[in-house]
This record gives sequence, C-alpha cells and structure tokens, in this order.
Amino acid sequence: MCKNFGVKNWLYPMPVLIVGSYDETGTPNAMNAAWGGIYDTNQVMVCLADDHKTTDNIKKAEAFTVSFATEKTVIPCDYVGIVSANDVPDKFAKAGFHAEKSRYVNAPVIVELPMTVECKLLKFNEDGICIGEIVNVSADDSILDENGNIDAKKLAPIIYDGVTHAYWSFGEKVGQAFSDGKKIK
Ligand SMILES: Cc1cc2nc3c(=O)[nH]c(=O)nc-3n(C[C@H](O)[C@H](O)[C@H](O)COP(=O)(O)O)c2cc1C
Repeated sequence: MCKNFGVKNWLYPMPVLIVGSYDETGTPNAMNAAWGGIYDTNQVMVCLADDHKTTDNIKKAEAFTVSFATEKTVIPCDYVGIVSANDVPDKFAKAGFHAEKSRYVNAPVIVELPMTVECKLLKFNEDGICIGEIVNVSADDSILDENGNIDAKKLAPIIYDGVTHAYWSFGEKVGQAFSDGKKIK
C-alpha cells in the first residue's frame, strides 16, 4: 500500500541555511532559508521571496553569506526565520548574533555560526532564485578535525523537516559516498 499526498514541497533532508546580508547603512541581517542548495560547482542558490529585507539587501549589496544553523543556535536561527528586519530593524542583534565583515564580499560572517559560504551575487532571476558565486568558505577552528577539515559532527548542522516543520539533528555517519556502492559486484 502507498499513500499519495498530492502536491507537496517536501524533500528530505532540507537544509537550514542562514542568509546574511548588509543593508545600505551596514546593518547586518539574517534570515532562515530551507529552499536552497548548490547550483553549480562554484555557485549556491537560495529561493527568496520578494518582500524580505534580505532580498532588498542582496540586490543592493550584490553579496550575501550562507551559514548553517546548528544544534546550539536553533532558537536564534528560527527567530530570524519568523521576524523580518522590515518590522524589527535590530532583528540581528535581538537574535544575539554578532557580525564580522567578510574579507571577500560586502556581507556579514555571523560569529555564532561556525561555517560560512561567502558569495558574490551573480543573478536574481524572475522566479526569486538568487544565485551566488562562492568566493570563499570559512570555518571556525573549533569545528575542524585533526587534518584541518570541517568535521560535520562538530559543526552539528540541523535539518528542516518540511512535513512536520521540525528541526532535526544531523545524526550518525552511515556510509561513505562513491565507495559503499562498490561493494555490489
Ligand atoms: C524553517 C524556515 C525556512 C524558511 N525558508 C525560506 C525560504 O527558503 N525562502 C524564503 O524566502 N523564506 C523562507 N523562510 C521565511 C524567512 O526566513 C522569513 O520570512 C524572514 O522573516 C525574512 O526575513 P527578512 O525580511 O529580515 O529578510 C523560512 C522560514 C523558516 C522558519
């Protein structure tokens, strides 16, 4: 038996991307975006509604950052997804976030979120798809393993469940990509 749910925008897992931007006065903003991902080898995309402060900021600054919500930052990361800087201008500070300007683009690196993809705006298409060229990825030392690589367990990103609107933790490693499939002869 199989139950059909009809038209739903459900995918598993969905990311919890925190999109950082500056307005014209240099005030940082952050918003939560689950509709996003890698667009090309050096590009990311996020689908942004027209009326967001973030959308306005990115169009003007032509830059943004994408960080990952973590287990330790669930509450502020959800907060920036339910409150707009159009209504609460000090939203970023109220979330308890602190910004350091990216060395590469005019967009904030959020100190409390340990991994950041720093992007130059490539284009905003008519469907609200914002495409950024990745110019740098930065990570706090605290989430690096002994080889200097990003340790997903230490990063502890959270996952969005669009069906129940829940956030989930990342879980355990269960396999090795491009490798486990070779066990089938
Ligand atoms: C879990 C979650 C996922 C969201 N995903 C998106 C998204 O992919 N695109 C979008 O435009 N808004 C999304 N939102 C809504 C924005 O984050 C929200 O409207 C936010 O207040 C916009 O902030 P701003 O106006 O300060 O930019 C999401 C919110 C939550 C809580």
